[in-house]
Amino acid sequence: MKKLLLTLAACALSVAGTLAADNTRTIKTDVPARPAGQQDMIEFAAAPMETVRVGVVGLGMRGPGAVERMLEIPGAEVTALCDIEPTRVEKAAKMVTDAGKKKPAMYSGGPEEYKKLCEDPNVDLVYVVTDWDDHVPVALYAMEHGKHAAIEVPAAHTLEQIWDLINTSERTRKHCMMLENCCYDFFELNTLYMAQQGLLGDILHGEGAYIHNLEPFWRHYHDNWRLDFNRRTRGDVYATHGLGPVAQVMDIHRGDNFTTLVAMDTKAATGPEIWEKQEGEKPASFANGDHTMSMLRTKNGRTVLVEHDVMNPRPYSRMYQITGTKGFANKYPTEGYAFEKGQISSSEMPDHENLSGHEFMTDAQVEALLKDYTHPLITEIGEKAKEVGGHGGMDYIMDYRLIYCLRNGLPLDMDVYDLAEWCAVAPLSKISLENGSAPVEFPDFTRGGLDKVKGYKHHYPAK
Ligand SMILES: NC(=O)c1ccc[n+]([C@@H]2O[C@H](COP(=O)([O-])OP(=O)(O)OC[C@H]3O[C@@H](n4cnc5c(N)ncnc54)[C@H](O)[C@@H]3O)[C@@H](O)[C@H]2O)c1
Repeated sequence: MKKLLLTLAACALSVAGTLAADNTRTIKTDVPARPAGQQDMIEFAAAPMETVRVGVVGLGMRGPGAVERMLEIPGAEVTALCDIEPTRVEKAAKMVTDAGKKKPAMYSGGPEEYKKLCEDPNVDLVYVVTDWDDHVPVALYAMEHGKHAAIEVPAAHTLEQIWDLINTSERTRKHCMMLENCCYDFFELNTLYMAQQGLLGDILHGEGAYIHNLEPFWRHYHDNWRLDFNRRTRGDVYATHGLGPVAQVMDIHRGDNFTTLVAMDTKAATGPEIWEKQEGEKPASFANGDHTMSMLRTKNGRTVLVEHDVMNPRPYSRMYQITGTKGFANKYPTEGYAFEKGQISSSEMPDHENLSGHEFMTDAQVEALLKDYTHPLITEIGEKAKEVGGHGGMDYIMDYRLIYCLRNGLPLDMDVYDLAEWCAVAPLSKISLENGSAPVEFPDFTRGGLDKVKGYKHHYPAK
């Protein structure tokens, strides 16, 4: 007995020792004090507005689609357009007038013309679709000039930029939302709904990724900005598509929160080759590893894996996988659900032999399941979203919700702290990688508000 107690004590000591060692190895990150007089933006709602007047900055490959979608959204009006390239602005303005709407104000010709759009009194919302380096300056200027800001993904890449966006949003009382469209894809929305109804049990693990061979795209980015960003930046520079939908399922900063991140990457192999092919000379260095993996831990004992590879010949995948104690959802390469026996009780369901926890449900079973578990947003506007399109409809649902919440004076579906947490994978993975994959502490971007709200939800007007 005495020997057993000694062994247990030794075990406890060694566990405590390991924890202490881990804690000392964890790289701390600063949380700057909230400036006096500033409040958080949790559940922030602006005054309702009948019409949302939208100004779009950046009309390259992605921007014109936003203009097109806004033309289809009740209560949205495209009142201003801006791009460095005048022809891009003219082309987008024609889309608006061809739809029988008033010609928007047009700003172009230089990299600071966006300032005029932000100062335009006929704009309520500045929708930022530029290259990554321009996201933050445009959004900050928009908020400083009384406009809400919606920023394409990833909104920001450094901790300093993230804190600038948070502080400016808190001080100006203007929304600052990241346009994370993948939170609105049909499979992700339905899975979120199932998780919220408890169907997946306690959520344990999530996976997400951006695996997209950008070979056909590289040479079309304005001034080669995207490849150049990868050339000079180590870490997962595009983590938000993978992380966003997982974070919503895990109620991040709504009862749970990320605590630590650890990253690993491969060497840069194909990246420098693409650079050489495109630019005609080898790059002196290439910082972004072809494949980057970041692992995150949460306060409530969950884990997340996020991956990034835009260089190699892999089929497109955002992974999107959720493991719960009662069920499992997987999106790529084929969508599927699996549940423990007996979890689903519906007369439509075949016997449990076909509903084992070790197999995916059949198509017929999923169809039956979705009769009860289709996300209300899909029921509401899924058909219209498919008709308008934008990555199969998810872009439309995102824009529709943004305008709907602004018109109804509701908190937006994604707040500035979601933006911060999802974007933080870029700078935190860089820190981890540059320090031998050391664990890095995840900052509390809410500065004390992590548990203020319990559970993620989409807001609707009170009945
Ligand atoms: N959410 C998604 O699914 C998705 C898909 C594609 C791209 N994106 C994002 O959209 C953004 C734009 O990507 P893209 O593929 O359209 O790139 P792009 O290079 O085709 O377009 C960027 C445009 O911004 C303009 N621009 C740059 N700086 C400007 C400034 N200071 N003022 C005005 N205009 C400026 C450029 O002239 C160009 O027309 C990026 O943030 C990207 O990550 C998101």
